[in-house]
Amino acid sequence: MAETSTGTTPKFYDLTLEQRWQWLQTHTNLSAEEIAALSGKAGLSAEQADHMIENVIGTFALPLGIARHFVVNGREVLVPMAVEEPSVVAGASFAARLARAGGGFTAHTTEPHMIGQMQILDLPDPSSARLRLLEAREALLAEAAAVDPVLQRLGGGPRDLEVRLIESSPIGPFLVLHLIYDVRDAMGANAVNTAVERLAGRVQAITGGRVLLRILSNLADRRLARARCTIPLRELAFGDFRPETVRDGIIAAWAFAAADPYRAATHNKGIMNGVDAVVIATGNDWRAVEAGAHAYAARSGRYTSLSTWGKDAEGNLVGTLEMPLAVGIVGGATRVHPAARAALKLMGVSTARELAEIIVSVGLAQNLAALRALATEGIQRGHMALHARQVAIAAGATGEMIERLAEQLVRENTVRIDRAEEILREWSQKHS
Ligand code: MEV
Repeated sequence: MAETSTGTTPKFYDLTLEQRWQWLQTHTNLSAEEIAALSGKAGLSAEQADHMIENVIGTFALPLGIARHFVVNGREVLVPMAVEEPSVVAGASFAARLARAGGGFTAHTTEPHMIGQMQILDLPDPSSARLRLLEAREALLAEAAAVDPVLQRLGGGPRDLEVRLIESSPIGPFLVLHLIYDVRDAMGANAVNTAVERLAGRVQAITGGRVLLRILSNLADRRLARARCTIPLRELAFGDFRPETVRDGIIAAWAFAAADPYRAATHNKGIMNGVDAVVIATGNDWRAVEAGAHAYAARSGRYTSLSTWGKDAEGNLVGTLEMPLAVGIVGGATRVHPAARAALKLMGVSTARELAEIIVSVGLAQNLAALRALATEGIQRGHMALHARQVAIAAGATGEMIERLAEQLVRENTVRIDRAEEILREWSQKHS
């Protein structure tokens, strides 16, 4: 990208769409075709979509932005985010810049172990059936391993069995078998569901019971992603707010979420703003990730914050986030969707674990951006500037008029469609 007349490189935010595509061409290893897929000029065709789901009539687009300034485990990453909400991409980029001053995000993941569940009913003696299943562990794991030789070759496959006795339920006691399955770089639903379906016959023979449900659990608490960051205190100064005030405000905001489920839901929603945007951009199953995140947040029996915020001995702000993240880079839409493929390439990830490490870092960044705004000037000021553009477009503004109208709406502190339409009418009368 050419430098401006003042000698500085323009901010990505200030570039035109054309300039951003050109920037991708010169600063990334994406091909022209891949850039076209990300830009929406090419991408998923109706014909491709027709092979993905049923009764297809077309495709549905979302804005795709790039969050900047992310450093994850010492590596610079450009983060593609698909999201309709203003301020999300800007918030993530801003928080990533703060974290970068403290060395960026340190992230890691556990092994990609998913849980497949089997519900076993009609057992006269569930406790002895449980032990018989545990005694047959090796045989059951061997049978499950034979189901997917490709995954087995890649180093995945069944790892363990757990059998839980549900002592009380609306239909009385029953057993639940958990098959722990290493799915490597896949999201894993297909591999796990096939394996538990295949084991049903043997499990019935061993227990004398009846296997009903055979399905993976979205509470993927064996497949966790964790990120932490340190924000140097000086970076937190903001307008008239002293850095200590901002830091302590963020910690108090987190304490609210830690103690109150009503606040925790919104706090975690802010985290998921970042998480989902990358999950969607990479063609992954965001409903699965959402379900896992919220179930994990309630694992103690009381719904709470997924993140923590505190300070270190030097007074710097320290944040952490831990959550299940069942995402893949092979199979499903991650491979079929041309924009998802290009998004994965843009991030330069070669394993699903690396992808999860970036996503959990984005979740933490998004949380920081929201808490910092909430603990200082509130989110509406920044949000309204962006929201005003959407209102301007909805009112019928086009081209340069969008920005002009948005600015006026913010200046008047009336970001409403009726006022936007009125201004447009006034402008067109002036010019007629
Ligand atoms: C809005 O999409 C997200 C926030 O409500 C998150 C939060 O309150 O922490 C700003």
